[in-house]
Amino acid sequence: MIRNQWYVVLESSEVGKSPVGFMRMGERMVFWRDESGRVVCHIDKCAHRGASLVPGAVLHGSGGSRLQCPFHGIEYDSSGRATAIPANGRAALVPEGFRLSTLPTHEARGFIWIWWAAVGSAPPAPPKFFDDIPEGLSWSTRRDPWDNHYSRAIENQLDMAHLPFVHRDSIGRGGRTVVDGPGLAFGALGSSEPDLLVYVYNRLDDGSPPKAVDQVSRPRPDSGQKLEFRFPNLWQNYINERLRILAAFVPIDEERTLMYLRFYQGFMRVPVLRSLAHAAGNAMNLYIARQDRRIVNTQLPKAAGQGSGELLFPGDAAIMEYRKMRVRAGG
Ligand code: FES
Ligand SMILES: [Fe+2]
Repeated sequence: MIRNQWYVVLESSEVGKSPVGFMRMGERMVFWRDESGRVVCHIDKCAHRGASLVPGAVLHGSGGSRLQCPFHGIEYDSSGRATAIPANGRAALVPEGFRLSTLPTHEARGFIWIWWAAVGSAPPAPPKFFDDIPEGLSWSTRRDPWDNHYSRAIENQLDMAHLPFVHRDSIGRGGRTVVDGPGLAFGALGSSEPDLLVYVYNRLDDGSPPKAVDQVSRPRPDSGQKLEFRFPNLWQNYINERLRILAAFVPIDEERTLMYLRFYQGFMRVPVLRSLAHAAGNAMNLYIARQDRRIVNTQLPKAAGQGSGELLFPGDAAIMEYRKMRVRAGG
């Protein structure tokens, strides 16, 4: 897991008033909300004797909100600093070292991000989302657990050549086995554009050689559809202005990923039809994701990357770009 990045790790609805625990980034983490509703995240290990804070309590009072350990009652504020050790008595000073490792959080568009970095380092700026998703689209999410490193799941979404094989009865119908391009475009560093845009040019094999990346246009002139990737773990299939499929690849640990698959739509507005559209959209997305998962879970090694000894071909260009991004980010 590459450090110094904002990772989507949860949806907003997963953190309520009580502390909740999740395995993320290979760490046991506890999440809670302070009196203002802001999400707080700590590594879930009490500084006293290592108990989980999840069965503890959130206390609100004059000194602000605190998370209380269920074992011996130590209270921690939202910065992770202990404010009370009951066994030492109310009058005692709390030693500086009594702290929980605490990670900066950000919440937007129904997602929760954590800043995954060395403890104490502050994020340079809030994370970016896909600004081209209109606020008015309705969305719903399904979660799908994968047995692989999240980089494998991301590479799969940037893989053009698997479509006619893995998805021969769904999105890969038609036997378009030759990969022209794909068309690649890059967002300006730090801008609101996605980091990588991919345009699919798969076609039937008529005996002519595939076109190289620089021989296809980007954006693709005859279709608005594109794949967008935002480092480190967000991906979007932009189908049209009112239809999107979004995936967040949330690392549980080095060998497990939880995919948050979101279906966005703006064409059904009547509530009952909207529910039907979401049920159908989610079912289709999950069906396609399961087709991928069945194969991607078999890949070795579990984690993808430069120097893994794999032999890529030109149609894998988007995967190569993703691997370069990982290297640039220190992965
Ligand atoms: S282990 Fe948390 S207060 Fe003792
Ligand atoms: Fe796929």
